[in-house]
Amino acid sequence: MTGAAVLLLDAAGPESAALVRAASKRGLQVHAATTTADAQVPAPELAGQVVTDFARLDRAVEDISTYARRRSVGAVLTANEYLTELAALVCAELGLPGNAPSLAHAARDKAAMAGVLTAAGVRIPCTRLVHDDTDLQNALADMRIGLPCVIKPVDAAGSAGVTVVTSPADTAAAANAARVARGRYGVNNAGNAGILVQAYVAGDEYSVESITQNAVTTHLAVTRKVVTGGAHRVETGHSLPVRLPPATEAAVHREVDAAIRAVGIRHGASHTEVVIDADGRCTVIEIAARLGAGHIGLLLQHALGIDVFAALLDVALGHPAALTPTAHGHATVRFITAPHAGRLTALTGFPKQGPGVPFVRWRAAMGGLVNTAASNADRLGCFVVTGPDAAEVEQRADALARQIHVQVDPTPAPDDCDQLNSASRSAIAP
Ligand SMILES: Nc1ncnc2c1ncn2[C@@H]1O[C@H](COP(=O)(O)OP(=O)(O)OP(=O)(O)O)[C@@H](O)[C@H]1O
Ligand SMILES: [Mg+2]
Repeated sequence: MTGAAVLLLDAAGPESAALVRAASKRGLQVHAATTTADAQVPAPELAGQVVTDFARLDRAVEDISTYARRRSVGAVLTANEYLTELAALVCAELGLPGNAPSLAHAARDKAAMAGVLTAAGVRIPCTRLVHDDTDLQNALADMRIGLPCVIKPVDAAGSAGVTVVTSPADTAAAANAARVARGRYGVNNAGNAGILVQAYVAGDEYSVESITQNAVTTHLAVTRKVVTGGAHRVETGHSLPVRLPPATEAAVHREVDAAIRAVGIRHGASHTEVVIDADGRCTVIEIAARLGAGHIGLLLQHALGIDVFAALLDVALGHPAALTPTAHGHATVRFITAPHAGRLTALTGFPKQGPGVPFVRWRAAMGGLVNTAASNADRLGCFVVTGPDAAEVEQRADALARQIHVQVDPTPAPDDCDQLNSASRSAIAP
């Protein structure tokens, strides 16, 4: 469909940039939909943009569809976690390949997700939606939950507002953190959407990166995660592809296939987070109807030779997607976090891009305030290492990580502390 245009819902971020490059390479015009608050002069590589209000789904569907019809848009997609439901609704309105509009909400709202996954027989942690303190106490007293438990927002992302609670004394603060960390754009923010209390699942964390086309799913890779311990779990590394024992892999794929169907993913990427326990049992923590963030697309490209961005364009355009690996290597991304909260004063030993290190990114401003990692937004930078051999790649990444020294001045005086949260975020350049 040469000459067809592509429309991205939110064109910011590295995954969107890669989609724009993939589309431009094919001579496809790229348009963007943006929300009023984020609207800015469109980047030169964009053919145009429609500004709407992402918080008002009906209105956004109408604005975007009207814009798309006038420009012969042949594909609508998004890499933005918060816009996957809107993407499904717009695709349905325009008759383009997309996910089931009636189920797309369940890939975003974790209460709805728990409902559809349970109904589909997917193994998930016992999850209770709570709206007030009485609900919260009842959930904590539920024998299927117990302690430790996890308290999390219904619709946030990037680990924001997620707390692993080990003591009853910490529940009030955790509940408050979950209430405050609501989804971006205000979607679902009207009224009291509640928070979730979930059983804690012990085990190793993985994600499964998949692409579904015409309701047929290809699992591209299993990714192993390194996650911080303690109350706030932040992903500090992804490595792929992981070779699980065949029986475990089959069990994981079974759960993930069922989860993909349950949330109505028919055309597009998915990123399913699972925990595998000591007995090889797989529990699904969540599923997202988008490509894994944290540079997972880049890892797939380098380790397996799969151009996921080109593949996602093909899926969105309704063309057959090339999903067969053409390489058999390994790739890892490591994220750097601050040793403690304070002012970032020095950084030494951060790797440079070069052979086997295809990507490095430092995003924390020198002299700015930084936080210990409580969510993905607190990560300071990252680097990617790739190569043919998994053990060598991991060793090299470990060695590079050991050379990095991040100096953070002692915790600021108490009156600075209140500002720490927002200041540390604004110190992070896009
Ligand atoms: N039920 C659970 N049992 C054990 N650990 C959990 C559970 N729920 C969440 N976690 C931990 O907290 C992390 C963040 O939780 P979750 O994935 O639900 O939040 P999120 O905001 O959607 O994160 P992201 O967008 O980064 O995937 C998980 O990666 C995991 O380490
Ligand atoms: Mg998650």
